[in-house]
Amino acid sequence: MSERPYVIDVMISAKAIAARIEELCGDITAEFGDTDKLVVVGLLRGSFVFIADLVRELDLPIEVDFLEASSYGDGMESSREVRILKDLRGAIEGRDVLVVEDIVDTGHTLNHVISLLNSRKPARLKSIALLDKPSRREVDFRSDWIGFEIPDEFVVGYGIDFAQRNRNLPHIGKVRFT
Ligand code: PRP
Ligand code: MN
Ligand code: MG
Repeated sequence: MSERPYVIDVMISAKAIAARIEELCGDITAEFGDTDKLVVVGLLRGSFVFIADLVRELDLPIEVDFLEASSYGDGMESSREVRILKDLRGAIEGRDVLVVEDIVDTGHTLNHVISLLNSRKPARLKSIALLDKPSRREVDFRSDWIGFEIPDEFVVGYGIDFAQRNRNLPHIGKVRFT
């Protein structure tokens, strides 16, 4: 599948992403401005670029932790079965937690992770996703903050892969098969 030739068109520029992150950090600060130390949790691997830019724009006392959940593997289709491949290092009971995700598609991944983390009794638990594809939703889930709502296009870059490639593009691109 990944051998099929394609080109990548720019969908959201690096500049537009940076501007949106600034706005989102204002909203996050309004919610968590009084926190002792916010635990910012990145979902590996897709969120690694977004979380890096987000935390550097966030003027709050934070800790960073990671959790790896995977439902797609190398395929294009969600397995709907979310596997936790790597759990958090730290305990989150009684803590303020912000989960950072690159994209909400069917919703299975973030929905599953939020339920799991909720069972650990955090004080406050919120989520932020850079991209949201509401037309693809299979579970009733909405992230607290969303960077951009997008149509059902095949997107890559800024952390998001196609068969593990293109995560290092600085912008969000749209895959077009040629
Ligand atoms: C992708 C993406 C989200 C998830 C969204 O992760 O990064 O985590 O799928 O899809 P969903 O809403 O349909 O669950 P993937 O499983 O490909 O792992 P990766 O982050 O390591 O690429
Ligand atoms: Mn992911
Ligand atoms: Mg993936």
